Amino acid sequence: MQIGLYRKLRLKYFISEKRYNLEKFLPEGKKFYCSSARNGLMELIRPLPVKNVLLPAYVPQGIYVPFFREDYKLHYYDVNDDLTLNSKDIENFIIELNITALVVIHYFGYIQDFSSVKQICKKHKVLLIEDCAHVFPCKRSKELNVGSVGDISLFSFNKFLPLPDGAVLCINNTEITTDILYRNSFSNSLAVFLLTINMLMNTLIDNIGKLRHLKKHLIKLNSQIYEKYYHYVNLPKNPVRISRISRYLISRFNYEKLIDDYQQNILLIDKSLRESKLNVPGHYEFGMVLFCIPVIIGKRDDLIYELEKKGIRCTVLEKRWDYAFKNGLSNFPNAASFIKRHCLLPVSLFISQEEAKHIAESVSEIFKNNTNFTQR
Ligand SMILES: Cc1ncc(COP(=O)(O)O)c(C=O)c1O
Repeated sequence: MQIGLYRKLRLKYFISEKRYNLEKFLPEGKKFYCSSARNGLMELIRPLPVKNVLLPAYVPQGIYVPFFREDYKLHYYDVNDDLTLNSKDIENFIIELNITALVVIHYFGYIQDFSSVKQICKKHKVLLIEDCAHVFPCKRSKELNVGSVGDISLFSFNKFLPLPDGAVLCINNTEITTDILYRNSFSNSLAVFLLTINMLMNTLIDNIGKLRHLKKHLIKLNSQIYEKYYHYVNLPKNPVRISRISRYLISRFNYEKLIDDYQQNILLIDKSLRESKLNVPGHYEFGMVLFCIPVIIGKRDDLIYELEKKGIRCTVLEKRWDYAFKNGLSNFPNAASFIKRHCLLPVSLFISQEEAKHIAESVSEIFKNNTNFTQR
């Protein structure tokens, strides 16, 4: 069990003497670190006098909540079926709806080129918010200028690293002069505590072996803890400082080693998915650090079940990502199709070579043996 935990936590990636500087991979300019991207964003969007925002129809709670709580009028645009956007449509919406803020997202860590949207926003004086929460700041993301395009960009560290909180907001537009005043928040501390418990429980669940009954109960309990976390993390209305434990841990990872190993693993899985002719809506380039690998598939529940049988736990991002669909799915057909048909392969910076091989082989095997899967 102890060895299992050691391997799961990949303690070899923690270092003690040398300090790594994540900041060198972030855009230059003013930045502020917050407990979560959402509570920092709320402060930055508060001063806009006209509150009309255009969000992608496939939008996470962490972006929706700040605009909703700051009384913005929410409008949505549909994404393309590969999760890119159509800049001509965006410009039409901006003009028709008198939009003052626009959000674009690098979904799942596939880096997109938003330079044409930037030109449109400049022309119409729209605040561009570049959501890089799924992008891990690294050499490749720096080369591709991720986080430098938006007037404001945001990164969220606990999507990649085992931290209970941590995000950074980068202010690229020098005309934005907001001074950040941090406040203490009891609800945020509670959120940090709950996520710590959730992460520890996840590690325990993954290493519990054959005790299936206990495992089932722990999974249920852990999902309740996770729900509570989301309740409390949304409550602060002002920026909260990143916790001390996360600050300490951020400077203690061996990112170079982590990223080197990770790239090989992702290439392996990506190759296997494409050879199995699966629909992966994103183009992987060597050097990108993905948040997970999305696959679009008709019978996703069957795929999730088959992978589960092989010990691979897939997820879907549907709950807390469905705000645009309150009036049904028909207004945003591409986003609606994605939300109902995607499945996310669980890759993380900490996957081992054996795990990556296992995922790649399992996918090939499933698709060789099941001709009735709708692949596209
Ligand atoms: C794409 C995306 N953007 C923004 C956020 C918000 O980040 P945070 O949890 O740090 O507020 C999330 C969180 O789930 C996210 O997935």
